[in-house]
Amino acid sequence: MLETPLILAIESSCDETSAAVLQGLNVLSNIVSTQKIHEKFGGVVPELASRAHQASIVPVVEQAIAEAKVDIKSVQAVAVTLGPGLMGALLVGTSFAKSLSLSLNIPLISVNHMHAHVLAHFIQYKEAQILPKFPMLCLTVSGGHTQIVLVSSPLEMQVIGETIDDAAGEAFDKAAKVLGLPYPGGPQIDKLAFGGDEMKFNFTSPRLDNLRYSFSGLKTSLLYFLKAEMLKNPDFIQSEVSNICASYQRTIIDYLLVNFETAMKRWDIKNICLAGGVSANSLLRRKFLELGNRHDCATFIPEFQFCTDNAAMIGAAAYFKFQKHDFASLDCAPKANWSV
Ligand code: KG4
Ligand code: ZN
Repeated sequence: MLETPLILAIESSCDETSAAVLQGLNVLSNIVSTQKIHEKFGGVVPELASRAHQASIVPVVEQAIAEAKVDIKSVQAVAVTLGPGLMGALLVGTSFAKSLSLSLNIPLISVNHMHAHVLAHFIQYKEAQILPKFPMLCLTVSGGHTQIVLVSSPLEMQVIGETIDDAAGEAFDKAAKVLGLPYPGGPQIDKLAFGGDEMKFNFTSPRLDNLRYSFSGLKTSLLYFLKAEMLKNPDFIQSEVSNICASYQRTIIDYLLVNFETAMKRWDIKNICLAGGVSANSLLRRKFLELGNRHDCATFIPEFQFCTDNAAMIGAAAYFKFQKHDFASLDCAPKANWSV
């Protein structure tokens, strides 16, 4: 077998159907098809997600192979997200990957989606790229998870802090819904926060011990605040939307970074990185870099294309498993709640 294997990777854990081809850690193609159907429901509808994955998985894989300009017969392993995620959505990707593994007679590699978000930092997409060193500390913030992860090696990770209820991405998405903004709300709030006064309003974020987070109260605090203000001024949201978004966003980002900074000091780690969909947030990116500079850390924030769900990160995680010949059996089943 070649030292730098050609891996086809598939991601279908939520509302993105994605396929990528990697030569080692080099991305030859990374196709992401985002399901638009959920917009009108203000959130992901699991059954509709499964149907949309079913409809797009073949064209997305075909496009990934075509763009990579490789022959599918030269692919040496097929990697797939085994979890965590929506069961029906995961079933589409895993069944497809198993069939390919069987028909091409190549190994199957099962990948933990949250591992893959972290390992997105090892995807090679440009010349002379500087990679994080181990141990590293990662703040993984997505629509389903908020975790502080101690990463000892590509295959050894430990969650040392996480949310006890909603994820940070959910706090963005639910607030956007309350404000009447389209789904997903994170990018909308990020955009509207530009030019807003981030100190104008205050929302509560509870301080918990043991590096834990809680986001469910934040959305409730926004809801009650809006109800009270709208009694005085029915046009309150329209006239203050920028200031509300800026203040709410600042509350989430500061909250995320307080615990992360405590973890950095406690574990004395000098390589820090940001991962997951919320790492596309402009304020979080800026403040994370500032935090790293203050502590003299090597600081890594992902390329925009690798922040939200994509198969290139699944391929990168799979590469490390391939090196250890850590292959999955064809009778492996999707794990909706697979922890790191
Ligand atoms: O990692 P991801 O694509 O999917 C999950 O694994 O959950 O993350 C999606 C989350 C959504 O909650 C979305 O609102 C949030 O990432 N997001 C953002 C931004 N872009 C995406 N949140 C805040 N600011 C953004 N610019
Ligand atoms: Zn994700």
